Amino acid sequence: MTSTEHRSDAAILGRMSVNDVDTILDISRANAHSTEVEHIVPDASDALFTWDYDKGARPKLEKLYEKGKTSQWNANDLPWDLEVDPNTIFRVGDQLPPTREDLAGDPSSPLHRWGDKEWAEYRREAVAWRLSQFLHGEQGALLCTAKIVETVPWIDAKYYAATQVVDEARHVEVFGRYLRTKLDSEYPINPHLRLLLDDIINDSRWDMTYLGMQIMVEGLALAAFGFMHAGTEEPLLRQLLRYVMADEARHVAFGVLSLQEYYSHLTQAEIRERQEFAFEAAVRMRDRFLSQEVYERLGVPVRPMVELLLNLPPERSAFQRMLFSKIVPNCRKLGLLDAGDGWLRDRFTEIGVIEFEHHVDTSEEYEEFVAA
Ligand SMILES: [Fe+2]
Ligand SMILES: [Fe+2]
Repeated sequence: MTSTEHRSDAAILGRMSVNDVDTILDISRANAHSTEVEHIVPDASDALFTWDYDKGARPKLEKLYEKGKTSQWNANDLPWDLEVDPNTIFRVGDQLPPTREDLAGDPSSPLHRWGDKEWAEYRREAVAWRLSQFLHGEQGALLCTAKIVETVPWIDAKYYAATQVVDEARHVEVFGRYLRTKLDSEYPINPHLRLLLDDIINDSRWDMTYLGMQIMVEGLALAAFGFMHAGTEEPLLRQLLRYVMADEARHVAFGVLSLQEYYSHLTQAEIRERQEFAFEAAVRMRDRFLSQEVYERLGVPVRPMVELLLNLPPERSAFQRMLFSKIVPNCRKLGLLDAGDGWLRDRFTEIGVIEFEHHVDTSEEYEEFVAA
């Protein structure tokens, strides 16, 4: 293998093809009955002191740090005493694709015969599942960002990451509090999301934490929070999401700004590894959105649902694809799409998300946001 030749899907993903349903379901099953309360991930990174205390050597990072310090909010200030009806929080299936028709229109769909009672139950469970995955993802961000404080070599980045640690603690707090006090259902971490978070934390290279967390996971989260915000009228959740999104926009911008500088010095072989990591993360996140646990809990056969979701025509699976609207432009901005032989561009084309490459990337979006 030459230095720019990419590894096979089997080596990157642990399966022969991206849409191998058996392996997707095996990963889910392996964790289905886990009762663990703590989850330990080995982390072999070096902690790094810098004696270069020159604050502002990286002016854009310094600006983010100053913004981070003055943008703190207190979770206690949200209107927690509002009554919330779990049935009407989020009308999934009604407002956003995939719609009820997409999921149940075909007579072979396991949901074809569902009535209003089943759909109501589905909406309640789907919102609990989504918010639970947000909660677990936020804890991933908390751990990853604490790790970045230790590992990143630049003082401006250590300063900024320290403010992000506080942001993430607050995000874990608000999603946890919402789930525990407003909903009657909660879900463990999705196995595909866990696999991704494990991989990110386990990697000893400091920039991989950024790529996995700030670019991929937080890029996706920013879009997912935006969709949920657009799809709910529930005032407490709307305000909570608006606060969290303002923080997340900074976090993704932090990733783009830091990696742009670092990637400009990497060799082709090193860039190839980053492309493969971005692809692996994109597939894990797509698999996470198949939400197998919801169907399992509702007693729906999981395999036909997963097959149905994977086979939705591109315009119908707009929800999953739109989620990549932040990730693909950020990968383009970092030069990962077209590096080498354009391998990542081909792979994103294959999973149906390349059309988002010219969406506004998060660092531009953040600059517009600050200017406004
Ligand atoms: Fe967060
Ligand atoms: Fe974040």
